[in-house]
Amino acid sequence: MPNGTLYCGDNVAILRQWVPDRSVDLIYADPPFNSGHAYYATGKKHEGPRFGDVWKFDVDKYQATLDQSHPALTRGLQAIRSIIGECDGLAYCAALAPCLSELRRVLKDTGSLYLHCDVRMSHCLRLMLDALFGRGRFRNEIVWAYRTGGAGKRHFARKHDAILFYTASDRYTFHPQRERVRYRKQFFGAQRDEHGFYADVLVRDVWEIPAVINVSSERTGYPTQKPLALLERIVAASSNEGDVVLDPYCGSGTALVAAQKLGRRWIGIDASEEALRVTQTRLGIPVVERG
Ligand SMILES: C[S@@+](CC[C@H](N)C(=O)[O-])C[C@H]1O[C@@H](n2cnc3c(N)ncnc32)[C@H](O)[C@@H]1O
Repeated sequence: MPNGTLYCGDNVAILRQWVPDRSVDLIYADPPFNSGHAYYATGKKHEGPRFGDVWKFDVDKYQATLDQSHPALTRGLQAIRSIIGECDGLAYCAALAPCLSELRRVLKDTGSLYLHCDVRMSHCLRLMLDALFGRGRFRNEIVWAYRTGGAGKRHFARKHDAILFYTASDRYTFHPQRERVRYRKQFFGAQRDEHGFYADVLVRDVWEIPAVINVSSERTGYPTQKPLALLERIVAASSNEGDVVLDPYCGSGTALVAAQKLGRRWIGIDASEEALRVTQTRLGIPVVERG
């Protein structure tokens, strides 16, 4: 494919075999969140889960994944173990550790990583990334706020994800982004169009972008699909035309679609063949079915 490569399989094995050190400009990683669920295409439970997100602590597995991780991350995991104990959360962190180590290896010195997670594991993942990148390389915790249905009665409705933004060094690519804010009244600096007053202001670390819901025109049916507007903002902010964007958990391929649209090259990896079929369709690449 002229603009990129798709790989099907476990991302750690693929990164080790195919992606050289310091070769990637931007990584967007959207792994499972430790939700405790299996994900089905909406309304199609009979077709089986698209991917699972259930983790159980197993001491041998834990030790084996520690041995494959960056030493700083291994120390970070040991600290997390002493706080949260031997639980599903620790199994999840340990499962992600070898992948995060590989992502750090393949990132260029001018590159950036955006790790998408939610309140369940963001506190642990941030410590892991501090261990791997250094605390000084933390740039933002982006709050992606959305309004989807469903709310608990014993706490405030949890309606945001966290996107942890780290850079490999202090010499990183960053293009500030702007968004249009509308106002009821005129004020100094406001502009006017047929809808009223507005200003194009610098984007904060709270992003209000609608989630992909059943009636969204971009919806593919692949579970946990992220909105294209979210990925376009990340790609536009943290890469240049012709740069390489890597998504090691690409799912329906939203980050790759954004990269292609903005003239970047891309690498997509997913363990699910079905995810890659959806991605290929979205990228306009013919799907060749094996017999
Ligand atoms: C949260 S979804 C990604 C959704 C994607 N951002 C989108 O917009 O469609 C996570 C994806 O990670 C994949 N996955 C989970 N573990 C993996 C692994 N070890 N290697 C490669 N892919 C994996 C799953 O198959 C799933 O498609």
